[in-house]
Amino acid sequence: MIINDSVMLYSEKMIFALRELFLEDGFIPYRMSRFEEYDLYANNKEFLISDNVITFTGAGGKLMALKPDVTLSIIKNSKDLPEELQKVFYNENVYRYSKEADTFKEIMQIGAEIFGRVDTDVICSTILLAAKSLNVLTDDYVIAVSNLDILNFLVSKSDDSNCAEEMLRAVSRKNDAYLSEFSGKHEVDVLRKLLQIHGPVKDAVSEIEKTLESFEGFSNDNSFLKVLSRLSESEFAEKIFVDFSVTDDMNYYNGTVFKGYVNGVAGAVLSGGQYDKLMKKMGKRSKAVGFGIYTDKLEDADSKTEKAQADKDYINIAVPKGRLGKKVFDVFTAAGIKCPTEIDANRKLIFEDKNSCVRFFWVKPTDVAKYVEKGVADIGVAGKDILLEYEPDVYEISDLKIGKCNMVVAAPKGFCENPNKTLVVATKFENIATDYYRNLGREIDLIRLNGSIEVAPILGLSDVIVDIVETGKTLKENNLEVIDVITDISARLIANKTSFKFKNEAVSKVVAKISEITEEKQ
Ligand code: PRP
Repeated sequence: MIINDSVMLYSEKMIFALRELFLEDGFIPYRMSRFEEYDLYANNKEFLISDNVITFTGAGGKLMALKPDVTLSIIKNSKDLPEELQKVFYNENVYRYSKEADTFKEIMQIGAEIFGRVDTDVICSTILLAAKSLNVLTDDYVIAVSNLDILNFLVSKSDDSNCAEEMLRAVSRKNDAYLSEFSGKHEVDVLRKLLQIHGPVKDAVSEIEKTLESFEGFSNDNSFLKVLSRLSESEFAEKIFVDFSVTDDMNYYNGTVFKGYVNGVAGAVLSGGQYDKLMKKMGKRSKAVGFGIYTDKLEDADSKTEKAQADKDYINIAVPKGRLGKKVFDVFTAAGIKCPTEIDANRKLIFEDKNSCVRFFWVKPTDVAKYVEKGVADIGVAGKDILLEYEPDVYEISDLKIGKCNMVVAAPKGFCENPNKTLVVATKFENIATDYYRNLGREIDLIRLNGSIEVAPILGLSDVIVDIVETGKTLKENNLEVIDVITDISARLIANKTSFKFKNEAVSKVVAKISEITEEKQ
């Protein structure tokens, strides 16, 4: 049969090209059913992107699921042969809950898994296969590589107060402001230095070696350094970056992990790494490494990359309108970045300065993080409240030390909480409030409002509110008082993870100018 490839959709061509690549590399196709016993996912919830799974009662009354993931099923059905090497690849539909669409989506996933005797060579060839996979689709891509053993060692050594998880989260967001709270501790200082390393693997190896030399275990016999040295000799050396902000769930992954990015496509399009811990959890002695490609994100990749290349000299900055906007304006102006105020431009919300190649968007404070996460803006300024509430997948580059306020619980003056009753809480910050009361073990009814929250307890809609207090004037004038401070808030400079890789020089320049001003403020 002769197939005329002009009738194929882009996604079909992509799958064929990748299938060809995997077959050439000795991988065996792995076919499976669309259904799986739900127990598999219930037991490994954190391994999944979301724990929302479509379930149904199968023949025999067993609770079944439409697959949200392929790797778990392959592991479950794989033979446990620790001394051998099994190489399989799949291209299957998975059914995943999308938070944005608030519904399930059918996504085509293609990936490769290797089980058994996984050594340095196998890890290197898997990363190279990941690079080759993106290389057949575009030439404007990067594979970012990191190592969880090193990160785990540094955070667990530096943690007195059980906040290793928080530290890792800060690492994945390049949140140096958080890590600097622990500065002075050798391990944290090393961690911060590692996070600064960014660029092709060739240039990074000696820097990592030097940074880790004080830790004997890592400097003498570090398999990660061996992996990097080998990768730096490969034909993809320029495309493989070291980036310690790449992390994954430590309960499942270990050793080397990596993510793939394509210029113009927001977020990782490929994700992989060693997952010996997951294998152990599932009763297997074999080691494992693998990766999956999110083909849905690559659907329109060609035109997105083209657009990104045309826009390569411009830095797109999303800034918040309103109260915080005026302070942001002052910081940018002091940093010598020409930034107009939103008011003096006839309500014009986009400003472009052709000379300095900067484009500003004035958007609602709650939307800044969305513009940055989706890559429409390369950088932006968002309140820590928004970052805590929506947890966007962005880098939190620095604390601008402006827009300082507190996230508090407030109530009418003299309010006396009845512990025997469910507490009614009104707020714009659903997740922050839920987390806060969950940690206290307090049962609440949450009422989500959009503004003027202070009215709720006065009119009896709620007992208390969770909200921001800056000057305290609104609380005072409405006869309310703070009963607990949840956390302090300030404005943060955030960056899109893909822009940080493909426009690193330009983004870093703006960040450096702004950091200078911020440091002066301290
Ligand atoms: C915020 C917050 C409080 C007020 C606190 O509201 O929700 O209502 O500011 O500021 P203060 O302590 O300086 O008085 P915002 O002005 O954003 O308006 P909103 O109520 O419509 O959300």
